[in-house]
Amino acid sequence: MDIKERFEQHGQGHVFQYWDSLDEKERAELLEQTSEIDVDELDKLIGTLSESEAANPGINYDALEPAPYERMPADVASDARWQEAKRAGEAALRAGRVAAFTVAGGQGTRLGFDGPKGTFPITPIRNNTLFQVFAEKILAARRKYSCELPWYIMTSDINGDATTAFFEENDYFGLGSDSVSFFRQGRMPAVGFDGKIILESNGRIAMSPDGHGGSLRALDRSGALSEMESKGIDILSYFQVDNPLVQAIDPYFIGFHDQAGSSMSSKMLPKAYEKEKLGQFCMLGDQMQVVEYSDMPDELTALRDDSGQLKFLAGSIAVHIVSVGFVRKLTDKASSLSLPFHKATKKIPFLNASGETEKPAEPNGVKFEMFVFDALPFAENPIVVETTRLGDFSPVKNAEGVDSPETSQADQQRLFAQWLANEGVEVERDTDGVPVRKLEISPLFGYSAESFAEAWSGRGGSVDLSKELFLE
Ligand code: UD1
Repeated sequence: MDIKERFEQHGQGHVFQYWDSLDEKERAELLEQTSEIDVDELDKLIGTLSESEAANPGINYDALEPAPYERMPADVASDARWQEAKRAGEAALRAGRVAAFTVAGGQGTRLGFDGPKGTFPITPIRNNTLFQVFAEKILAARRKYSCELPWYIMTSDINGDATTAFFEENDYFGLGSDSVSFFRQGRMPAVGFDGKIILESNGRIAMSPDGHGGSLRALDRSGALSEMESKGIDILSYFQVDNPLVQAIDPYFIGFHDQAGSSMSSKMLPKAYEKEKLGQFCMLGDQMQVVEYSDMPDELTALRDDSGQLKFLAGSIAVHIVSVGFVRKLTDKASSLSLPFHKATKKIPFLNASGETEKPAEPNGVKFEMFVFDALPFAENPIVVETTRLGDFSPVKNAEGVDSPETSQADQQRLFAQWLANEGVEVERDTDGVPVRKLEISPLFGYSAESFAEAWSGRGGSVDLSKELFLE
């Protein structure tokens, strides 16, 4: 059936109302936009417009319990269980079963940075970008485990071209262009409260990225999933572009996931304070679920156990291992599994009666997004593994204050100072524990306490601590 007819049948024929006045290019663009829209799916979403906007609608909060997690022992090196997991993870890496996967489609609006977030400079001395930090972590793991370890990066319509150009300019940071793949996430149209798709100009629909949950179907649509299957890759190490401290490739985490036969595993941090803005790992009956911080009722967030510890302690740092077979299952058209869409009421620029694009003063419509952690309720044996804050998490989300470039750089340097201290080298620190003189360690030298210790013992010699120190 003709696409215009299909939109008309679904009450959305108005998107083509200016067709006759559009030039060739505008027509092509509108056809591209409309071909991305699944009008049946949209009908269902429009049917929910009058329902609650909570990210997790319909949760029975009375039945919510904290999810169990694998606790990190004080001394990982002498813990038999953790060492066994590490061996399993290293074996999976050596066997070439692992790929890295970064979601980098977001717009970085809160950071106020004009460009793909991954191109933001973040290291304390070299000002290396987020993408370079991850690239070096992946390169280091490739060297250590002699494996291909391809890297898949999800971009979006907004930043796709700029991202690939950036990798070209930087010669793929030594990874090789054939082992770094980019694909774009899907888009969703914004709709008004009346259920009509919003036009932002006479030839353009207001569309926005479909959320990081869209990464699963984008993996399938782009052919990345089939490529992984043909290469024997069954483990995806998933992380967000905003977190330079992430252990992009963590053999312990991979090992726990593989040993448990889990289809999706996650890392947790004990929340630093009650209202920390982290999703919360919970159980609803036998299903695991992340409840967003914004949806967690205050009474639950405040609950404490007999020892005074928060009952809902396990915060999500948005780091997962996802099995490739699970992504296949979730994206299989024949399966009934699908991630829910979340609604967000927004001010969406629209085409006004005088034919101009107008920025509304009040919210005028709704955007739809999927969240990757909504796959957890469908997962078999989902496990949650504890990590340390400095060892895995210091995201860059805001221009200033918490989770800003300043806090992330301070954390990077705290971590590097800790690695040096483990080897008996004390750098001078201020009262916040941040080195007084700048300190940076390239992931190519060390990307974890253990890899740093190995490199340090092999290096020998001393370092000059009277000035800033960069190790690579
Ligand atoms: C997110 C999580 C939260 C977690 C926290 C940890 C959600 C809704 N919440 O919060 O549970 O505790 O991180 O840092 O995810 N992205 C895309 N495409 C999109 C939207 C986002 O690729 O359409 C990517 C972004 O580039 C970014 C990541 O997803 O890497 C996070 O998105 P963001 O909206 O910033 O999530 P947060 O609210 O910070």
